[in-house]
Amino acid sequence: MPVTDQAFVTLATNDVYCHGALVLGQSLRNHKTSRRLAVLITSQVSSAMRAALNTIFDTVVDVNEIDSNDSMHLALLERLELGVTFTKLHCWTLTQYSKCVFMDADTLVLCNIDELFDREELSAAPDSGWPDCFNSGVFVFKPSLKTYNLLLQFANEHGSFDGADQGLLNSFFNNWATTDINKHLPFLYNLSSSVVYTYAPAFQYFGKDAKVVHFLGPSKPWNYKYNPQTRTVIEDGSSSLSNSQLCFLQLWWTTYSSDVLPLLEKTQESSEPQIQREEPNLSGDESKLERGNPATSSSLPANEEHVSETVANSPDELFAKKDDVTSSVSELCIQPNPEVLSAEDERRKWEEGHIDYLGKDAFENIKKKLDSFLL
Ligand code: UDP
Ligand code: GLC
Ligand code: MN
Repeated sequence: MPVTDQAFVTLATNDVYCHGALVLGQSLRNHKTSRRLAVLITSQVSSAMRAALNTIFDTVVDVNEIDSNDSMHLALLERLELGVTFTKLHCWTLTQYSKCVFMDADTLVLCNIDELFDREELSAAPDSGWPDCFNSGVFVFKPSLKTYNLLLQFANEHGSFDGADQGLLNSFFNNWATTDINKHLPFLYNLSSSVVYTYAPAFQYFGKDAKVVHFLGPSKPWNYKYNPQTRTVIEDGSSSLSNSQLCFLQLWWTTYSSDVLPLLEKTQESSEPQIQREEPNLSGDESKLERGNPATSSSLPANEEHVSETVANSPDELFAKKDDVTSSVSELCIQPNPEVLSAEDERRKWEEGHIDYLGKDAFENIKKKLDSFLL
């Protein structure tokens, strides 16, 4: 039964974060949430994106951008772009709902998490960087104009210790760490993808029960390159990702390429032709996906050294045991990871005598290619 007075809420102040919001919304739908889906957006979001958001979310709410303009604290956080996360505060104005769960646009749901609505304001999981603070990427709250105004007033009077929403919310809900253990969500509801590597034994032991993955930090899934043919995320060479991070990235991209990209193609067609996407690697043409965005493609020579290693030797290496909840992640983890080479590199390898007789260079494949030229 749909529950119409409760909602999952996210935020996207620009088209780039909309890609994340669309994947998050789709992942909630895939896991059959009975709650409403709402997204807060600002005037920067293009009409094509609005159309796409409208097909996945029940409500798309236009709000004013709120920026902390606190470059001093944001510099300490090393994320100058996060001043606009004060816009998140608007979620308290959604008073058509009696209770909501806010989720960052860089989160991905791995199973149904509707049980979160049994929790009270303000419930959240510990922040992996400072566990006496909660992470504001996933939290349960109760919309209220009174709370909204108090938050704004608090922001004006005290600012935020990190220049963004998490510092502000932790100072405002300052008894979270000490008062009510029921308000501590398990870490599994906000698993920081970037830190699982630092506590690999715990991840191996508990990771199978992960419910929400959070791509926290400056590198977001949409900054990576992806080969849709092989369904492989390509590392940019500057970072080394753990197996688990790669698995989660692949899951994000699988959702993106199978559910979101076709939707964007449709909405892009029906909106004005002059609208340009901000991210070339997210263009409607799947073949361009491999190219990456300008920030990463220039640093990525088309060279197999940058292709990710096989994601995991077995799912058991990653998870202590499999279950339904993470089976989709586990399946992705054992996908063979064929080399992704440019046409030029393919040719070079062939000329050097590195021929994959049983795989892509098998006679059957060569014949298919020749046939396609003849037709
Ligand atoms: N956000 C946004 N526009 C921005 C930056 C952030 O809409 O320019 C929203 C988005 O929902 C995002 C959240 O604010 O997920 C928090 O930012 P981010 O996830 O980048 O922070 P992190 O979790 O990496 O600290
Ligand atoms: C955290 C949270 C994010 C928040 C940011 C800035 O990392 O994950 O939601 O916007 O800090 O406070
Ligand atoms: Mn985030």
